[in-house]
Amino acid sequence: MRHFLDINATSPDDLTQILAEADRIKAARAGQKRGMADAEQVLAGHMVALIFEKPSTRTRVSFDVGVRQMGGQTMVLSGSEMQLGHGETIADTARVLSRYVDLIMIRTFEEGVLHELAEYADVPVINGLTNRSHPCQIMADIMTYQEHRGSIQGKKVVWSGDGNNVCASFLHAAGQFGFDMVFTGPPTLDPEAVFVEDARAKGVNVTIERDPVAAVKDADLVVTDTWISMHDSQSARERRHNQLRPYQVNEGLMKHAKPDALFMHCLPAHREEEATSAVMDGPHSVIFDEAENRLHAQKAIMRWCLGL
Ligand code: CP
Ligand code: NVA
Repeated sequence: MRHFLDINATSPDDLTQILAEADRIKAARAGQKRGMADAEQVLAGHMVALIFEKPSTRTRVSFDVGVRQMGGQTMVLSGSEMQLGHGETIADTARVLSRYVDLIMIRTFEEGVLHELAEYADVPVINGLTNRSHPCQIMADIMTYQEHRGSIQGKKVVWSGDGNNVCASFLHAAGQFGFDMVFTGPPTLDPEAVFVEDARAKGVNVTIERDPVAAVKDADLVVTDTWISMHDSQSARERRHNQLRPYQVNEGLMKHAKPDALFMHCLPAHREEEATSAVMDGPHSVIFDEAENRLHAQKAIMRWCLGL
């Protein structure tokens, strides 16, 4: 069973194969702006369940459109409307869904829910974000980097802000794709040590640098994300904003990166908080390419999961 649960749970060879497939899928649609169908209708007759226990724009739309373009059908389910929200176990839900659908994508809170679903499902399960990781996003991000700048291997990636779930998947990717990472943010919002140690164990340099200017020096890629994630308590808002303000990605900070550095944000963004509009809409930014590439990367992930 090929689940896509995390970047560090998928081999570098498979990750490379998925990205090559994503590039091929994207190229095959080039110039085909209108009309939904891909030439390759590999998901014809397939049903994909998309389960959301948290809000989503990109993940929801890109998976739904991706499945349909490949000839499949989707059902979008919210956790609270399912029995999942009313006491049925994850294991039973997994066994039941496996009798109906060919693939399950889930966005949830606790990572344990994703792993239990994968353990008991007889169909592949894809992680559409948990409190701890967001692998589909980072596949799109690596695809985007390589599309603009060539191989990411050996490059310097700087994460500025909250060491959250998206940062964790970047650290997974650092180990698998072989790039160096610098985290800059306040000590209370460091990424979990296990993510840092796992990447270091794979031979890449991971540095924690409290000074954002020193961190960004000569960066090839600067990345940030919202200061408050969906699973974070809003009561911490003011404290987090005060702690994170020095790590805002603005034009002043970007000046310290390489002149051709890229800027990424998974979106949704809070403009003028974690990043300024001048950066988001400026020459370094590839934020909308990242969003587009969710579609292509996830099609490749689904095909890999299903062996199609
Ligand atoms: N980047 C991302 O996953 O966006 P959504 O929350 O809109 O799906
Ligand atoms: N870190 C954010 C990412 C949203 C796509 C969150 O978990 O809310």
